[in-house]
Amino acid sequence: MAVRFTTLLAASLLAGAAGAAQAQQKTFWITVGDNAYAQLKKAAPQAIARESRSLTAQAEVAGKAAVKDQVHLVEVDEQQMLKLSAAVHHELKRCGGFMMHKSEAEGLAALSPQTQRATLAPVLTRPSYVLDNQSAITPLVPQLQASNIAQTITDMSAFTNRYYTTTAGVNASDWLKNKWTTMAAGRSDITVTQFTHSGYPQKSVILTINGTDNGSEVVVLGAHLDSINTNGTTETTRAPGADDDASGIASMTEALRVMLASNYKPRRTIKMIGYAAEEVGLRGSQDIATWHKNNNVNVVGVMQLDMTNYKGSPSDIYMYTDYTDSTQNDFVVKLIQTYQPTLTIGYDRCGYGCSDHASWTAQGYWSSMPFETSFNQDNPYIHTANDTYANMGNQADHALKFARLGLTFAMELGSDGAGTPPPPDKVETFSGSLTLNQKRTFGPFKAATGTFKASTTGTGDVDLYARKTTAPTTTSYDCKSDGSTATETCSISMAANGDVYVLLNGYSASSYTLTVTYKPQ
Ligand code: BES
Ligand code: ZN
Repeated sequence: MAVRFTTLLAASLLAGAAGAAQAQQKTFWITVGDNAYAQLKKAAPQAIARESRSLTAQAEVAGKAAVKDQVHLVEVDEQQMLKLSAAVHHELKRCGGFMMHKSEAEGLAALSPQTQRATLAPVLTRPSYVLDNQSAITPLVPQLQASNIAQTITDMSAFTNRYYTTTAGVNASDWLKNKWTTMAAGRSDITVTQFTHSGYPQKSVILTINGTDNGSEVVVLGAHLDSINTNGTTETTRAPGADDDASGIASMTEALRVMLASNYKPRRTIKMIGYAAEEVGLRGSQDIATWHKNNNVNVVGVMQLDMTNYKGSPSDIYMYTDYTDSTQNDFVVKLIQTYQPTLTIGYDRCGYGCSDHASWTAQGYWSSMPFETSFNQDNPYIHTANDTYANMGNQADHALKFARLGLTFAMELGSDGAGTPPPPDKVETFSGSLTLNQKRTFGPFKAATGTFKASTTGTGDVDLYARKTTAPTTTSYDCKSDGSTATETCSISMAANGDVYVLLNGYSASSYTLTVTYKPQ
């Protein structure tokens, strides 16, 4: 089992974060899950949680009880942080990481997504999650290819490492920016930018496809571009990070390629993000999620692809239920069942905020993380020099499933929004003449829920009747209008879809124009 956070990493973080002047006094705010907190209390009993909150993971599958995990905000000094890292390393052999916070306030905010949600509520729009873009999406799904994903994984893992402080880590960000820029050339509605973080040189990369008519609503697909080798973090330490997380970047990039090839223009804005500095406490994604929150951006859904290519568990895709939104997770499951119906789905949890989806959850946004395996069966090579394409069996078939899922997520959520106009009313007209007492029936009109309206104009005296389901008579009707001219109007309120018939009766010899107006089914 991979060890996630080592003494060495913590030491290098401390060195990087603490300014030389205040190296002695420097403390850090971190949030940890139950397991890591228990280790911290043993190793450094003085480090008491400032605040602990329970985060209830959704009831994972019918029949299973909801799981209660706690998350703890702790202020630690250098010594305590080193002890925590060592304890996690030696005792847990898993469940390592912690989220690093810039201040106590940011740490507290991360503990209460509900409060964050409340302040965002005026701008946030919960999507309908209706799958209504199948005609555009279904033909694209087979166009995604494992060979392209394999190429991107190979290219990214060729960097010596992608650590957040190294030259190669900086170069990997530039490489991704250039790759996406080249792919999107010729599209004036797409921009590729780098997001600069303070305190370290690696930048996040953001590709934005502007929405055509509902662009203030934003859909985010993300993966982290950095890598780590927890045995060493120098310029020359090998950290290929082929699965963690070149695979996520590669899956996302293949979804982008096919969206561009089909010339897809989303109604909502779509952002594809390669995050910097995930491996050292979700630092890149925290800056970016906080930026969106501070700017009141209506991010309607976030998906994180972190590790997509190692097939180590029986099911194809595992939905992680903690630090994610259960309603959006149900939508993601619907996407899998609709567009990749042969795939099997499992559920699991990390028990702590294990990837960038947690940064968005902390800011009150709806986030999901579909993952390659169950938590216990994840790739044993991550965070080492052996996280290579070869050690995933020289294939990218597993990552292809996640690339397809990313495409369906972006294109279903990207295609609609609050700006969707209702379908226009259907209007039909009929003209003719009637002799005394002559009757004429029209319909059925296939009307949807809403108001069905019929009206006449003309000469003489026409009487108008309308009825749901069956043709009206002059004595059986849902509405009638029988004034002494040819100008009549009557309407029926449709509680559900149904047929409507109209009857005209010549009360004297007449000519008429009948107009019916209704919502089409
Ligand atoms: N990709 C991993 C998260 C992961 C690993 C999820 C294995 C499920 C199974 C991620 O890059 C990572 O290493 N996260 C850290 C925590 C983070 C806050 C630094 C971890 O899991 O220790
Ligand atoms: Zn990792």
